[in-house]
Amino acid sequence: MWTSQQPGEPPDRRPPAGMSHGRGNVAAPSPPVRLRASGITKRFGRREVLSGVNLEVHAGEVAAVVGANGAGKSTFLKICAGLISPNSGQVEVQGSIGYCPQAGGTFDFLRPDEHFILFGRGNGLKRDVARSRGREMAAGLGWSPDPKVQARHLSGGTRQKLNVILAVLGGHDILLLDEPYQGFDRGTYTDFWEVIWRLRDTGRTIVVITHMLNAMDRVDQVLDLTPTGSERNR
Ligand SMILES: Nc1ncnc2c1ncn2[C@@H]1O[C@H](COP(=O)(O)OP(=O)(O)OP(=O)(O)O)[C@@H](O)[C@H]1O
Ligand SMILES: [Mg+2]
Repeated sequence: MWTSQQPGEPPDRRPPAGMSHGRGNVAAPSPPVRLRASGITKRFGRREVLSGVNLEVHAGEVAAVVGANGAGKSTFLKICAGLISPNSGQVEVQGSIGYCPQAGGTFDFLRPDEHFILFGRGNGLKRDVARSRGREMAAGLGWSPDPKVQARHLSGGTRQKLNVILAVLGGHDILLLDEPYQGFDRGTYTDFWEVIWRLRDTGRTIVVITHMLNAMDRVDQVLDLTPTGSERNR
């Protein structure tokens, strides 16, 4: 399903991602697939957490992964990121990956600027560029980092802003975000989606794990990992 909606906008007002405007009946070629997960199955011991899961996301699309606690969402994202292997199935990736883990992802004893520089340098950015890009993104989430405060002293929501920024900072083609707005206040949640929409419009491929149903109308497709029938209560 390749529908594309803006918040508060009827589904048919906006063309599918990557389609051109105002060129008569000539449609632009479909944007390339950046992430394709096919038949992903994962077992931990004798327990099958994922059973033949498929997901295909193009450039300029946002996919949401939903499902109950323990449904295998984080496991699936880790497999997409190449952090763990599936028992069967494969993941094909076109481009570089930025990954925001569900927990952790920041360093207690580093300051926000030091995070920006560390992750930015690791992605080929110059020191000053990395710091200013990190600060720009922080401002986009309503945060002005105190240069003296270490990450361990940040509030939970602010630390999560840092976590999200680190995934996005490198300018990667594919962003895999595992419950990225945990602890965000309402304003930051809105700001976050603004950031995602801007990234989407620049052709990024974004996969977001989410529990918030009101996010659903802002994405191009939804992968629901909720187990069905006999798979429940596992
Ligand atoms: N390394 C592991 N070893 C054994 N079991 C694991 C491992 N990682 C995850 N699991 C199990 O796999 C299941 C799916 O875990 P996962 O973290 O992917 O769920 P989730 O959908 O992200 O849940 P939540 O909404 O709580 O974040 C859980 O039952 C979990 O305990
Ligand atoms: Mg999870």
